[in-house]
Formats: sequence, C-alpha cells, structure tokens
Amino acid sequence: MIPVHRMYFHYSEYPPSMRVLFTGTLLVLGLAYIFAMIQTYVSHAARDGSPGLSVQDLVIAYSGTRTESRLEAAIKGPMSDNIDPEDAGIVSLWVHQGANEEKYVETIQPILEDNCVACHDGSNPHLPNLTDYSVIEDLIKVDTGVSVYTLVRVSHIHLFGITFIFFIMGFMFTHALIRPVWVKCLVVGIPFLAIILDIMSWYLTKIHPGFAWVVYIGGMFMAFSFAFMWITSIYQMWFMRPPKDMVRETSE
Ligand code: HEC
Repeated sequence: MIPVHRMYFHYSEYPPSMRVLFTGTLLVLGLAYIFAMIQTYVSHAARDGSPGLSVQDLVIAYSGTRTESRLEAAIKGPMSDNIDPEDAGIVSLWVHQGANEEKYVETIQPILEDNCVACHDGSNPHLPNLTDYSVIEDLIKVDTGVSVYTLVRVSHIHLFGITFIFFIMGFMFTHALIRPVWVKCLVVGIPFLAIILDIMSWYLTKIHPGFAWVVYIGGMFMAFSFAFMWITSIYQMWFMRPPKDMVRETSE
C-alpha cells in the first residue's frame, strides 16, 4: 500500500494530451538547458589556462585576475632594476588612487622619463611605448572581472527565468511517485535555494574568491535536480504502470 495525498495524481493517471504537453515542455526545456551549459562553458572555461570549467575559472570571471596591473607587475618584477623602490612606490600608489591624469603629468611622467623611456620610447615595437599616455592607460587596467552593472543585469534575467523553469519543472514533477516524500520535496526545493545562493555568490566572489565554490556547487545542484526531475518525469509518464496499491489519504 502506497498512501498518497488526496490532491495527488500520478503522471500515469493524466490523459494523453496532458502527458504530451508535459513531454513537449520537458523536451524543449532539456534542450534549453543543454544550450545554457554550452554557453556557460564557452564563456568561462579555460580562463585559468587549463582546459575545462573549474572553480578557478569562476574566480577569474567574477573577481578578475585582480592581483595587479601590468605596469605594477613590471616595476615590481622584471623592470625593478630600472627604478628605485621609492619611485616604484609612488607609481603604485598613483595607480591605486585612480591614476589621475594631472598627477601623471606632475609626478609620474618625470619618473618614467628618467628611468624607462631610454628603452620604452616607442622605437622598439616590442616594448610598450611609455611616452604615450594611452599605452600607460592600457597598462594600468586592473582586471576586476565582470562589472557589477553586468551582474545586476544578468541576475534579474536569471532570477526571473530560472524561477519559471523550475516552477514548471517542479509542478510537473509533483506528479511523480517518489518515496520517501521528503526526498521529493528536497528535489523540488533545492533549485530555488541554489539559484539564490548562486547569484548572491557572484557578487561575494568579488569580495572573497572562496565564494566561487558556492557558485560552482549551486550550479551542480541545479543541474542535478533538473536531470533527476527530467528523467523521472519522462520515465514515470510513459513507462511506469499505475501503481495498483496507491491509496488516497481520505478514501475510506
Ligand atoms: C634597459 C632597457 C629598459 C628599461 C630602462 C626599462 N625597460 Fe621595461 N622592458 C624592457 C624590455 C627589453 C622589455 C621586454 C622583455 C621583458 O618583458 O622583460 C620590457 C618590458 C616592459 C613592460 C611590459 C611587460 C609586460 O607585461 O609585457 C613594461 C610594462 C615595462 N617594461 C615597464 C617599464 C618601466 C615602468 C620602466 C621604468 C621604470 C622600464 N620598463 C624600464 C627594457 C627596459
């Protein structure tokens, strides 16, 4: 005997037209999910240089490589012999204070002229021309990942879109027979929790790279729930016989 709620109908109890409607919806949603995964993969995979989509890729996508600009990397690294540490500090500070152009003319340009322009005067096409301000501008860009503005735009689209997808999926899936009931509730509920954690973590990854794990795990949970609901639904709708010992909670 399988006791069921009086509001519950199994997939197999539904008329064929409704099962066709459910199936059509599942097929198109499944296809959409595949495209969404390809899109995620193409836009984020291998950012860290190794193939595949890793947590490190997500850190770079959301918070950028962040460490420092190319100019700072150069004066702390390979070019450090050409500049005394005090001047290097002044250049670094200028970059971090927002690279004001007036201050550039005042203090930074003279430093570069004294220490760098002997080689970086544009005569060697392989070296950045440090007499050209637009070149400097390029060198001081710090990669901070996707902008908050872009994240806000993508967030609202995702929140609306994914709610619809998992409402439709979950609503259909309530007609599957899964025991114990709490497992079924978990599968229906997890995607909603996952999308909230996932999207909040896009922003939090900007603050702390550890949150990239939450983005990653959130995505995995959503994909897992989706696959579970999809396969169970198609199977139970078309290939499972109505369980004969199903009893309504109120049938006496
Ligand atoms: C003696 C010549 C010489 C001087 C002086 C010199 N550089 Fe360079 N610089 C080079 C050469 C050669 C390279 C390319 C090879 C390399 O990256 O080590 C280079 C590369 C660079 C790069 C590009 C690194 C990258 O990310 O690809 C930057 C930025 C740079 N230098 C900045 C500076 C600054 C700032 C100074 C002054 C403090 C300076 N250089 C002084 C010779 C010089």
